Amino acid sequence: MTRSHEELELGQFIPLHYHYHMLNDNTRVAGFKAAIEHAVHPGSRVLELGGGTGVLSFFAAQRGARVWCVERNPQLAHEARKNLARNHFSGELEVIEADAFDYLPPGPVDVVICEMIHVAMLREKQIPLISSFKQRYLEKFGGPLPVFVPEAFIHAVQPVHQSFNFEGYYAPAPLFQEPGAEQNRTWELGQPVVYQTAHYKDALPTRCNWDGEITTERAGTLNALRFITKNILAILPDEHRSIDWHSQYLVIPLEESLQVDAGQKVRIRFDCAPGDPLDALRPEIFPCRMA
Ligand SMILES: C[S@@+](CC[C@H](N)C(=O)[O-])C[C@H]1O[C@@H](n2cnc3c(N)ncnc32)[C@H](O)[C@@H]1O
Repeated sequence: MTRSHEELELGQFIPLHYHYHMLNDNTRVAGFKAAIEHAVHPGSRVLELGGGTGVLSFFAAQRGARVWCVERNPQLAHEARKNLARNHFSGELEVIEADAFDYLPPGPVDVVICEMIHVAMLREKQIPLISSFKQRYLEKFGGPLPVFVPEAFIHAVQPVHQSFNFEGYYAPAPLFQEPGAEQNRTWELGQPVVYQTAHYKDALPTRCNWDGEITTERAGTLNALRFITKNILAILPDEHRSIDWHSQYLVIPLEESLQVDAGQKVRIRFDCAPGDPLDALRPEIFPCRMA
């Protein structure tokens, strides 16, 4: 497969070993499995966009659904077919090697599963793909739209002090963090503040941006922002709960750091497009004047 510069740069090509790393993320896999069990029923028609190793399509097919699993990378389409055979799977599941930006299923579907998600909706094409899919689907089949898994996402940003000192070598660089894991090189200077939310069935944002204020809770040197993406895999209104999965957190160093006190207001500004590379996210901060 020839890969364009953009694909290599934007993380569109995910190597096989990273897929096994994703399979090993039990919070992700168990969360999707529970959400699929909630959304998919015997006889449902399910489309998965970006099927990878086939795991999520397998969960849908196990529920008795008819599944179309679209994967652009031939190595992965092959791997998915091999895995399904290894699982002695004989249900109605077709792995289709195609670009999800072009593909539409043969008829209307009940559920669309899509996990092309990267923190802050950078690098991967979740938002442009679902926007394109909805437009093409409505033109071909009319409404209603299928249910999406995930259903929605919430974006938050948090002021932090981050050590970028690696055994005496100072290198401020974007860092990924396991959600919920203890971070002994990160000091939280305030609470995360929600800056964007969207439901996949509604119009999706064309920018990932914010120009807003946060209030610090602790004094310190604000030298980085932590970006948090919470994926709402399924909303269960009857049970008053949702099934959620956090993407890995992303800590972005700031060009200029700022000494802050507890209770200080700080203005944060950033603007990039969904699917942009990491370096497009260049947040700026400004001290706000005291009232
Ligand atoms: C984050 S992985 C998720 C894989 C799998 N669904 C899972 O949850 O383990 C995203 C997958 O989307 C595929 N992909 C990316 N862009 C695509 C496109 N335009 N058309 C079809 N597949 C695509 C990638 O090759 C990759 O396998």
